[in-house]
Amino acid sequence: MSNTDTIVESIEWRDDHVRILDQTYLPNREVYSDIRDVGRMWEAIKKLRVRGAPAIGIAAAYGFYLGIKELPENAFESFWVEVERVADYLETARPTAVNLHWALERLKTTIQAHKDKDISEIKDIVLETAKTIHAEDKRTCKKIGENGVELVPKEARILTHCNTGSLATGQYGTALSVIFHAHEEGNKLQVWVDETRPLLQGSRLTSWELMNAEIPMKLITDSTAGSLIRRGEVDMVIVGADRVASNGDTANKIGTYPLAVLANENDVPFYVAVPLSTIDIELENGEDIPIEERDGDEIASFNDSKVAPKKVETYNPAFDVTPHRYVTAFITEEGIIKPDFDENFKALFED
Ligand code: MRU
Repeated sequence: MSNTDTIVESIEWRDDHVRILDQTYLPNREVYSDIRDVGRMWEAIKKLRVRGAPAIGIAAAYGFYLGIKELPENAFESFWVEVERVADYLETARPTAVNLHWALERLKTTIQAHKDKDISEIKDIVLETAKTIHAEDKRTCKKIGENGVELVPKEARILTHCNTGSLATGQYGTALSVIFHAHEEGNKLQVWVDETRPLLQGSRLTSWELMNAEIPMKLITDSTAGSLIRRGEVDMVIVGADRVASNGDTANKIGTYPLAVLANENDVPFYVAVPLSTIDIELENGEDIPIEERDGDEIASFNDSKVAPKKVETYNPAFDVTPHRYVTAFITEEGIIKPDFDENFKALFED
């Protein structure tokens, strides 16, 4: 049985800079990078050195502080112009995960609430708020895991996609937090891990996290999932999300939508584990979720070797949107949310 408290932390604030576990090197090497300016943080988010919706939010919050900490401490108005410039710049790193926008909005609102204070004091408050966002995410993810355990049968074959573990959050994860906690409770698990083309978050990162926790797992190609589900070898699917609209439409790693349809067709429950910070309550449905399109070279190359003819045309969306009708329930820090999602999310956000 693993102890969830020993689970890795991939982002750490150290006196005056951020240390991240650079995920592009995993699983072969554990390389830690020190990030001391907003430009380096933008690059780390863009290049997926730090990735996964909640982790992107935490990284952006620290990156924002790094971007404002050297600003002149004169009039609030000129400080604010620069604050907005730093936030707008960080927002361009990755568009789909709403946590990035959510964290920056929270920091900007905090600054406005303290506009009468000295700018040096405001900067300290921003750093404290970034640390709070980080600490809250760890607690939230633990709660998601604890809340999700009731949905996991005592013996369960669970299929998951992409990486939703400690690497993707402050600690524990979202979908993987449910798996870690069910394992800790003594459930007998077998996890099917989709490799997750093209950047292999499943094979490189999820396998690494599950094997470290000694949770039985098998790596499969993305296209194996369908036949496993049809043969009755999957009891439940659990994934995370990058942005959930107020009606429950869910953007997550490309390949999630087909899994949801397959699960539905075969009467297998399809769960989405998310912190409330991933729910974009302002957004009516999934139509308007911005979907990041990444460099075609990610699919035309493998390990720096070409696997397609030179100059091949590509289409490489990083995420897809699963209509809410395929989602059995959301697992959040506030509990299990069942349909009608629209109504139940609104009640949560009104509280
Ligand atoms: O492109 P990535 O690796 O940042 O995509 C990550 C995902 O799609 C995760 O499933 C999602 O962010 C949920 S993480 C807790």
